[in-house]
Amino acid sequence: MAQTRKKKISLIGGGQIGGNLALLSVQKNLGDVVLFDIPAAEGLVKGKALDINQLSAVDGYDSRVIGSTDWKDVAGSDVVIITAGVPRKPGMSREDLLDINLKIMKDVAVGIKQHAPNAFVINVANPLDAMVYALYKIAELPKNMVVGMAGVLDTSRFKCFVAEALNTSIADVEALVLGGHGDDMVPLVRHATVGGVPLTELLPKDKLEAIIKRTREGGAELVALYKTGSAYFGPAASSIAMAESFLLDRKRVLPAAALLEGQYGINGYFFGAPVQIGAGGVEKVITVQLDDSEKAALEKSFQSVKKTVDSVKL
Ligand code: NAI
Ligand code: 2OP
Repeated sequence: MAQTRKKKISLIGGGQIGGNLALLSVQKNLGDVVLFDIPAAEGLVKGKALDINQLSAVDGYDSRVIGSTDWKDVAGSDVVIITAGVPRKPGMSREDLLDINLKIMKDVAVGIKQHAPNAFVINVANPLDAMVYALYKIAELPKNMVVGMAGVLDTSRFKCFVAEALNTSIADVEALVLGGHGDDMVPLVRHATVGGVPLTELLPKDKLEAIIKRTREGGAELVALYKTGSAYFGPAASSIAMAESFLLDRKRVLPAAALLEGQYGINGYFFGAPVQIGAGGVEKVITVQLDDSEKAALEKSFQSVKKTVDSVKL
């Protein structure tokens, strides 16, 4: 049998989401982990690495974590997940983070270009759709190897609120959120099902509208509760689902911000759509048939994304 080597996952940013990404990677035995941050956060990432390695003894996980501030440790990564950046505080929009996070992304993209040009790179930093665009341009990654995480999280929120409203198992809720990671995102109610039954037959219009609104404002709801930052458990689990599909060639169909080349009438922008993720990275972008009101909602979401992306100076 051919020898296989352990996979390597580098997490750029060792804060709230980064730490949870490291833990989930180990618990799912996805590979060895490099938790990377700036020198000022060296103690934080070394501490989290040590803490997780000690936790591994309890259940016998084989993956190991190192905390690092040296890009050389990122070399040869199979997957890189970027959470380097500042999260929003109450009252801030994701777009308010553009200037500060773009500066950070410029450094990070250069690091990836130099040290991990063959990795499958998942960006999480906000404003999501603009950051993944900047990453793609600066790091010069192949279009199938760079993607933004938002749709899995937004869809999980949508599913969570549906399951709560029906008092039913979340495992049987199938749904999809399209578009940008902003307040104009498009939860597709018409396509959602619960155990194969259309959601529109199970909940009245006013309840569905309340779920759409809460999904769109899902990030802000958590920022208001946490006060010092944004969500981290959900974002970490969502990013790991994407990394796992790549590493294990699962070919899952997950919503993600991928480079669109004509799909949904959009060209040259990263935008949330269902994609198939396997060993080839983004192997397919899937086009959903939309009615006129869904098309109009998606166009509104795209105009918001386009405005932010067009203001990015590389
Ligand atoms: P955090 O503040 O806990 O962690 C960010 C880390 O990035 C810090 O440890 C910081 O030292 C590090 N960092 C800063 N500059 C760096 C650099 N040049 N290189 C390496 N590391 C660097 O923030 P948290 O909560 O982990 O969130 C991270 C990002 O994810 C934020 O931009 C936030 O808005 C975004 N986010 C995105 C979501 C999505 O659905 N796409 C969901 C939730 C948060
Ligand atoms: C979220 O949706 C703030 O983008 C972050 O939780």
